[in-house]
Amino acid sequence: MSSQFKTVTIAGGTGTLGYHIVEAFLNDGSYNVKVLRRKPKTENEKAKLLASKGAEIIYADYDQKDELVEVLKGTDVVISVLSYKNTNLYESQVPLLVAAKEASVKRFIPSEFGSEFKVGVHPTPDNKIKFEEELINSGLEYTIIFNGLFQEYLSFIGFDAKNKKATFYADGNKKLHTTSLSDVGKYTVETLKMPEARNAVIKVAGATLSLNEYLQKFEEVSGSKWEVVVDEEVKHRYKNKVEPIPSPEENFKATLVQNEQYKDLDNDKFSFTPRPVTEVIEKIVKQDA
Ligand SMILES: NC(=O)c1ccc[n+]([C@@H]2O[C@H](COP(=O)([O-])OP(=O)(O)OC[C@H]3O[C@@H](n4cnc5c(N)ncnc54)[C@H](OP(=O)(O)O)[C@@H]3O)[C@@H](O)[C@H]2O)c1
Repeated sequence: MSSQFKTVTIAGGTGTLGYHIVEAFLNDGSYNVKVLRRKPKTENEKAKLLASKGAEIIYADYDQKDELVEVLKGTDVVISVLSYKNTNLYESQVPLLVAAKEASVKRFIPSEFGSEFKVGVHPTPDNKIKFEEELINSGLEYTIIFNGLFQEYLSFIGFDAKNKKATFYADGNKKLHTTSLSDVGKYTVETLKMPEARNAVIKVAGATLSLNEYLQKFEEVSGSKWEVVVDEEVKHRYKNKVEPIPSPEENFKATLVQNEQYKDLDNDKFSFTPRPVTEVIEKIVKQDA
């Protein structure tokens, strides 16, 4: 499969996921790869590493439209991997979309890379959905990628390897799609070569297991039985301010775990098999235990 695109600019390429997407494009070897960073220029180890592997690091002030347009000229595809933390992904991405259009960028991949949510469930996905609607109406080609939870974030949603304790924010039989960061990078690269990904939503998963099945893998890898706490009432307590009142972060975790999982995966349209989830679990256990 070959791509009609030559130059890709990855906004937020220094981030948790962005780094892996940049790396996947560099490994592919058929693109000019640019990493768009915010001004003012700051030292950044990941940016240095990516530059040493062949990426061009470019900078712009997102509040200066002309500057953004100028740096995006010559780019075929913008991939936004901007942060969801302490920022509104609608507001942070709109300047990028406006400038991409003006710079005649051909395709835009938004900072989604999560799970499919209905409107009104939580402000973070709501802002993503609002931006995606604007992107779809913009006339630019788009690909929206759903990959479920990052496998590297299994600890975030309750698998505590240090204390050998799992907190389930749903029944243990609840299934969850998860994908490793490196595979999300590979999926993203391949969408540019797939005709089906033009103006489409692409849904993939490296693994689809129940909370109990993920736990079993953690127990196997760590060689011990874990304590399990089931807490399905977090969202109710958060909404109704019932003691103990959960933190916004805990409410977000419960939202992620309890969300209905998407169906009709596109995995079979891709040329590779995702990594076994055990590889990431082994890494988490080694790191955290
Ligand atoms: N599925 C999952 O489990 C999961 C987990 C985490 C994240 N995600 C999703 O993945 C995407 C990327 O998240 P991430 O955690 O990888 O991001 P991140 O590491 O927090 O940030 C990515 C980059 O965005 C830039 N940035 C930070 N704040 C910004 C702002 N206010 N405006 C513009 N740029 C800003 C920074 O780059 P510079 O400083 O170089 O400009 C940063 O390195 C998001 O859509 C997020 O929701 C999914």
